[in-house]
Amino acid sequence: MGESKATTTKDNNIPLIDLSLLNSPNNSSSADSIASLAAEITEACETWGCFQVINHGVPVEQSRAIESAARQFFDQPKDEKKKVWRYERNPLGYHDSEITMNVRDWKEVFDFTVQNPTLFPASPDPHDLELRELVNQWPQFPPQFREVCEEYAKEIEKLGYQLLELLSLSLGLPRQRLNHFFKDQTSIVRFNHYPPCPNHPGQVLGVGQHTDSGALSILAQDDVGGLQVKRKWDGEWAPVKPNPHAYLVIICDIFQVWSNDKYESVVHRAMVNSEKERISIVFFFYPAHYTMVEPLEELINDRNPPKYRPYNWGKFSAARRRSNFTKNNVGRIQI
Ligand code: SIN
Ligand code: FE2
Repeated sequence: MGESKATTTKDNNIPLIDLSLLNSPNNSSSADSIASLAAEITEACETWGCFQVINHGVPVEQSRAIESAARQFFDQPKDEKKKVWRYERNPLGYHDSEITMNVRDWKEVFDFTVQNPTLFPASPDPHDLELRELVNQWPQFPPQFREVCEEYAKEIEKLGYQLLELLSLSLGLPRQRLNHFFKDQTSIVRFNHYPPCPNHPGQVLGVGQHTDSGALSILAQDDVGGLQVKRKWDGEWAPVKPNPHAYLVIICDIFQVWSNDKYESVVHRAMVNSEKERISIVFFFYPAHYTMVEPLEELINDRNPPKYRPYNWGKFSAARRRSNFTKNNVGRIQI
């Protein structure tokens, strides 16, 4: 018991955090118990830059339904999927041509947003790609696809806010300090499908190593496995073992900037499997497009001056997409 957690978490086991305190029906969470949950999160973020959550409140029927809808969608012929192909001004819909660090990924993807499109209108200026359209394109098949996606979005968004509040506490800030950034959030849910890769499974990557650019990513995966995170203390890859009851919570670049490097975004990648296809479903929790991201004033002082210049989230993410994700994310705005 008395042993320091810092030594016990430095192994191959990504910390597992139980959120039943927030999600049990007779919610009797005391300030003390919330503070100890926040302390576990501080420890996990500093050591790993990610953690898993169980008893997270997302109903199991909904996670099953969305996985099955994703499978049915991807099982269709290419021509059917191309009916919701994404286009230059709208990053949402289906595509199979993502490039990470100049290498084409072995995957196909479907993206939709959880936000109200009227909050993020297309700019009348065709050169203004920052204010691009963000419009959901719903496939005809499977018939319940849109409904399942919208129901899931509501649940995963709830979890997103719970985690945001715990992370805020874990940084020593008021619980709702960060919520206003997400009022007009531009969050996206992404389905990843990695077909089997029989020829070069050791050389081809489902997704090359990268960090995520948003605030948080909340990831579910099927039972195949293949996701790996880079351990911060020795640079070794650690597998994220499939757990049907858990989500992986990934600290992304915005938290790195907000916390002025107290929390660093975690480098991760996805391997392919020679025999089995694999599905993952990720919620990218993104703030409003007009958000200025910069180190939080409470977390900087003379001895810890800001390490990043302020940047506009909408412009930054659009520019990153145009550069095929080759830029070292927030490295660009480091002071
Ligand atoms: C990603 O990080 O882009 C996807 C990881 C996964 O599929 O597990
Ligand atoms: Fe990622």
